[in-house]
Amino acid sequence: MFSYSFYKVVHIFGILLTWSALGALVLHAANGGDKSSNKKRGLVAATHGIGMVIILVGGFGLLARLGQVQGGFPVWVWMKLAIWVVTGGLIMLPLRVPKLATPLWFLIPMLGGLAAYTANYKPFLGGVSAAPVEAPMEAAPMDAAPTDAAPTDAAPTDAAPTDAAIEPGE
Ligand code: HEM
Repeated sequence: MFSYSFYKVVHIFGILLTWSALGALVLHAANGGDKSSNKKRGLVAATHGIGMVIILVGGFGLLARLGQVQGGFPVWVWMKLAIWVVTGGLIMLPLRVPKLATPLWFLIPMLGGLAAYTANYKPFLGGVSAAPVEAPMEAAPMDAAPTDAAPTDAAPTDAAPTDAAIEPGE
């Protein structure tokens, strides 16, 4: 199984693909373009679709790594699934309702922001656990202080053997 960090990169890569495609489509609609004048229709649709699948693969991989797949999803996960479904439907909106194109230019990034908020703040934890969900241990060593720094924090007596080892003349 892949690591938590790997799934996060996958998740974000999928988000980038999907949001690029939506941005391109919204700009086309805002410029007065329609379906037939969109020469890269296939590219936009494929980028959006592949991005959506990658988001889901990354998202469920992350959930598995967080141990959140057993015993039903907490509310924040349902919220993210709902955002995902809305994101899927958004591919149809700009060209069908062109007057929404300019508002969507801002609303679609805001939807991404809402998804990021949901993932990081996990509102309405849904009674699964009141405790914050910790990042898995494998992420810790990267954030941890380098081992070289430890003697400075240690009590003087603890530090003595380390210091003694580098005393001149020893
Ligand atoms: C379009 C839909 C989605 C967007 C824009 C989105 C966006 C994000 C973002 C920005 C993060 C934070 C990444 C970070 O902290 O560096 C994240 C994390 C996460 N997402 Fe999504 N997500 C979406 C859909 C989903 C879905 C459908 C699932 C579940 C199946 C999911 C599960 C997760 C999980 C488990 C995390 C990690 C939470 C943690 O580290 O505690 N996401 N998502």
